Amino acid sequence: MSHVRLWHAAPGNPGIATLAACHPVDPCDGPAVAALATALKVDLVVVGPEAPLIAGVADAVREAGIACFGPSQAAARIEGSKAFAKDVMAAAGIPTAKSRTCTSETEIRAALTEFGAPHVVKDDGLAAGKGVLVTDDYAAALAHALDCERVVIEEYLAGPEFSAFALCDGSTRSVLLALARDYKRVGDGDTGPNTGGMGAYSPVAWLPDGVEDTLSEAVIEPLLAELQRRGTPFSGVLFPGLVLTVSGVKVIEYNARFGDPETQVVLERLDTPLAGLLMACATGTLKPDTDLQWSSDVAVNVVIASDGYPDDPVTGDPITGLDTAAAVDSVDVLHAGTTLADSGELIAAGGRLINIVARADTAAHARSNAYKAADRVQLRGQVRRNDIAADLI
Ligand code: AMP
Ligand code: GLY
Repeated sequence: MSHVRLWHAAPGNPGIATLAACHPVDPCDGPAVAALATALKVDLVVVGPEAPLIAGVADAVREAGIACFGPSQAAARIEGSKAFAKDVMAAAGIPTAKSRTCTSETEIRAALTEFGAPHVVKDDGLAAGKGVLVTDDYAAALAHALDCERVVIEEYLAGPEFSAFALCDGSTRSVLLALARDYKRVGDGDTGPNTGGMGAYSPVAWLPDGVEDTLSEAVIEPLLAELQRRGTPFSGVLFPGLVLTVSGVKVIEYNARFGDPETQVVLERLDTPLAGLLMACATGTLKPDTDLQWSSDVAVNVVIASDGYPDDPVTGDPITGLDTAAAVDSVDVLHAGTTLADSGELIAAGGRLINIVARADTAAHARSNAYKAADRVQLRGQVRRNDIAADLI
């Protein structure tokens, strides 16, 4: 017997519209999302990005009696406030950079001097990956810090970065997914300003053996236990951004959602159906010994962003060539900030627009297919990195 599956997205984009019915509902409006889910009689709501989670949309959906994947507003603060995250990490004994939370110029100057260059200055609130400044320039660090109402200044952690996703069900149980590497800076060779992420790959072959156990024991479980102790248990996906320093793995930050562009490469390799896992998280029935099936292939994602990204993305320009890009062997073309113009033309509607995800038996093969497909995408002034996964080859 075949099963009919119906997917809905709010608000969605022209990419997901090929799979799901899209609804013009504000994803940050909890009552509106809950009302839509009730009207559609859905089994499960997945609250994706950080803004709706921090706005309490998952709470509104659960209050309407519908299973929901995603943390409560209170637990999502682990991403919403860098100062709160630092406080929780300190209480739980989690390895991370030493830091100071500052609200005055005197405190800011003292912290910049204490930790020295390179300076790491983080706006306490949400800033779509752009509130963090890492610089050797004291004056620039001071200026950014003074622009923030509350600012976290911290020790610089040197080393390669990677990302982990742990599925959590509101208890202290969790299941770690495959690891990924993201490229945060806009330019080749990790130059230029920070972005939401310009590309990714999975698996991360250069990590030491046993890193998954270290992550579960030192990074995931203590955090879940501390949030539970505070009366705000976490369910959904916990996403620590990590760095492999000379003194071991340290946490740069926690996010309360799947990461972009890492999720595209992690899920590309996951052969176990995802929906059942998300439902288990939503209903508190995740089995910690869940045996996930992973492809041994390498997945590589190259992001195509608008002209001017990240400072001042140009919107409204047409994007073409996606069909020919998707025709490259084992390539998927996934949408982010795209929309359809009245003319029916696909146009840029945000910063990061398109993900070109290639999967192959070797990193070299996946990388060359990803770039072969990316070369077929036409967009005036597009911003893209040309060194994604080059470090694997
Ligand atoms: P965050 O938004 O906290 O993930 O920071 C964005 C990016 O800034 C990270 O991916 C790192 O590349 C960089 N960064 C943040 N904190 C530190 C740190 N303490 N040391 C070195 N780089 C950092
Ligand atoms: N790629 C990092 C993030 O999603 O925050």
